[in-house]
Amino acid sequence: MNILGIETSCDETSAAVVCNGQVLSNVVSSQHCHSAFGGVVPELASREHERLIVSITDFAVTEANITKNELDVIAATAGPGLIGAVMVGLCFAQGLAYSLGIPFVPINHIEAHIFSPFINEGDSHQHPEGSFISLTVSGGHTLLSVVAQDLSYEVIGRTLDDAAGEAFDKTGKMLGLPYPAGPVIDKLAEKGDTSFHKFPRALTSQSQTSKSYFGNFDFSFSGLKTSVHTWLQKQTPQFIELHLADIAASIQWAIVSVLVEKTILAARSRGIKTVSIAGGVSANSTLRKAMKDACDKHSIFLHIPGIVYSTDNAAMIATLAGVKLTRGMKAEHCYNVAPYASFAAGARKAGLK
Ligand SMILES: Nc1ncnc2c1ncn2[C@@H]1O[C@H](COP(=O)(O)OP(=O)(O)OP(=O)(O)O)[C@@H](O)[C@H]1O
Ligand SMILES: [Mg+2]
Repeated sequence: MNILGIETSCDETSAAVVCNGQVLSNVVSSQHCHSAFGGVVPELASREHERLIVSITDFAVTEANITKNELDVIAATAGPGLIGAVMVGLCFAQGLAYSLGIPFVPINHIEAHIFSPFINEGDSHQHPEGSFISLTVSGGHTLLSVVAQDLSYEVIGRTLDDAAGEAFDKTGKMLGLPYPAGPVIDKLAEKGDTSFHKFPRALTSQSQTSKSYFGNFDFSFSGLKTSVHTWLQKQTPQFIELHLADIAASIQWAIVSVLVEKTILAARSRGIKTVSIAGGVSANSTLRKAMKDACDKHSIFLHIPGIVYSTDNAAMIATLAGVKLTRGMKAEHCYNVAPYASFAAGARKAGLK
């Protein structure tokens, strides 16, 4: 079954073809028009998607070595995301499905991130045995969920303010780094000292009594942001420039250590032996290594997506559509874009929409 996936929820225009759980093509075009603004400008994002969606889709189909007439299903992100951006992909995908006379499957973007570590494992293997803990860390979300074998979800923790990706991007902006700052901090930190300055870690064992800490899987990164801001104000530009790598490493470790600590705590408290990480921040090299070390220490099995499947991509949209169809989900038309389709609010039971 050839499934075309379309992803346009934010600033990546992507199309992919997945056949029986194997990725045949995955074309991703990242928008660079936002870097001057320090964040994504929604109107510019929609226009860029509209400009590129046809050619990116053609490219993905050609790369897969098939023709459009050989497509069996089309899937697209229906939310959450920027409303205009989601609409471009959703309307285009449904129009194409309608013209080809094939079914359409709407997909929740965050649910697709959660399944990204299992891309390329084949339709029948795209879920570990039993439940697993998913840490989903992206530009807009930071969630800890228990994912059951039947694809139902229980969100047990979420950020109370900024997402982990935002923490990277906003503190990076304070350091004068381009948007998105996450990958730049990751690179800079390779040569930095994580213990150069200890920035605060909210809602962790260090900041709370053991009573309020255990069982609290929520995150908070706004205090870190304020702390970086006030600390930087006290430093000279020369000092900041000289120690940029050390500062980046210290900020990164303040974020990563919290993510690792909470994830392991969640797995241990639930007695779950499988963990996965997903979303753009799961591309972070320090998070990948620290999570692996912590999982090894506690005999927990870790699933990590390939780097190209960490940030937004259409392979994860097509892959999840395949998993859902294999499990009996019916294709349906989707006329409602869900820009704020909060994963956290809507995902406590099966049937994310
Ligand atoms: N190597 C890295 N280290 C840290 N952060 C990274 C890295 N690579 C990407 N990111 C961060 O990942 C985020 C983008 O991830 P993603 O594309 O999944 O988010 P999004 O789609 O905008 O948000 P959402 O998925 O919540 O709708 C950005 O904040 C970016 O800085
Ligand atoms: Mg995303």
